[in-house]
Amino acid sequence: MKLLVIGSGGREHAVIKKLKENSDVTQIYAAPGNGGIAADAVCVPIAATDIPAMVRFASENGVDYAVVTPDDPLVLGMTDALEKAGIPCFGPDKNAAIIEGSKVFAKNLMKKYGIPTAKYETFSDMDAALSYLETAPLPTVIKADGLALGKGVIIAETRAEAYAAVREMMENKKFGKSGEHIVIEEFLTGPEVSVLAFTDGKTVKPMVSSMDHKRAMDGDRGLNTGGMGAVAPNPCYTKETADRCMEEIFLPTIRAMNAEGRPFKGCLYFGLMLTPDGPKVIEYNCRFGDPETQVVLPLLKSDLLTVMQATTFGTLAETPVEWDSGCAACVIMASKGYPAAYEKGFAITIPADVSPRVYIAGAALKDDRLVTSGGRVLGVVNVAPTLQKALAASYRDVKKIRFDNAYYRSDIGAKALAATEG
Ligand code: AMP
Ligand code: GLY
Repeated sequence: MKLLVIGSGGREHAVIKKLKENSDVTQIYAAPGNGGIAADAVCVPIAATDIPAMVRFASENGVDYAVVTPDDPLVLGMTDALEKAGIPCFGPDKNAAIIEGSKVFAKNLMKKYGIPTAKYETFSDMDAALSYLETAPLPTVIKADGLALGKGVIIAETRAEAYAAVREMMENKKFGKSGEHIVIEEFLTGPEVSVLAFTDGKTVKPMVSSMDHKRAMDGDRGLNTGGMGAVAPNPCYTKETADRCMEEIFLPTIRAMNAEGRPFKGCLYFGLMLTPDGPKVIEYNCRFGDPETQVVLPLLKSDLLTVMQATTFGTLAETPVEWDSGCAACVIMASKGYPAAYEKGFAITIPADVSPRVYIAGAALKDDRLVTSGGRVLGVVNVAPTLQKALAASYRDVKKIRFDNAYYRSDIGAKALAATEG
């Protein structure tokens, strides 16, 4: 069986390594992949958003199944185009990917179907947004409607910051068309939990919960990044909370998408906040999270390809999805300076005695050597019976992996450990 995995990050590397466990898989293409993924798949230099080139490649090379991993190709309709060419896909069609592609859509969906989320207003007119902000409670949260590489959310502590954020999005068009419409919402508090779920549009099977670490520096300081580490499961997410989320959030969301004529198939990511008033949705993503995938997939005992195909073909109810009872910890090694400017091109040394789960995100091959080529360079993942052991193993590995200007947080999992003890 020939597979095509679209994307190029650590998440895609984790997906590819897991798919390789299925002995029916004879070939995996990654488009575009990266220098590290090249050890596990054949990388083809096609941009993840180049729909015509991707369809041509998949058709000409006899791809049997495609996995569309990043948000932008999904929102642009990659699944629609591949399926039209007869290639079944993991990932929602364009109509359903709008749940991530438009925050205005997602918020209105939640309001219409009574799914708990922060109170909000939407604006297409800057003056109306500015005048609303004159009396809005602070802090306030301002979100660009469309995709903005994870940077379209501003938490404004003061009115001046709030006005500036709105002007950046609507007047200076910092995020282009993504900021033509904005959401202004209530600031919520509580632990954050990521829950990724497989769904075929009828059945929803949540994966093990996880916790991302978005800020660049220890103690959740510094700029927001694509994610500096993750742990799974998330100790704040109890069985009781999980049951409540299933009834109040997961099933209602699947039903709401069906009622809107937008059945969702693939991985639906619920970004949740466990507020004093109960769990609320902070965001939906139409795809696997990064770096959550790197800690969740190693705990999946069932065959990933079988489960993915069950979401595509509508057979998830009768397909077992089983999880290991252990814990996983991912520490991201980044280039110093990330998420702002950083240097690249440094040789990476990964000794043989580290975890087999080193997922490469930003590296290229130069004269057959792996060199840094991105902000987030790689993620080291270990699985152990306890979170403490998994973290210790990942930090031990991080110290053995070398490249110039390497930077990592030293407190990944600290909050989760505190919650376990508390
Ligand atoms: P998002 O891209 O929507 O996940 O937002 C990025 C981050 O901003 C989230 O992970 C939260 O930490 C924070 N955030 C988003 N919305 C809110 C909110 N309504 N209240 C508090 N924090 C929020
Ligand atoms: N880890 C957050 C995301 O993938 O959007």
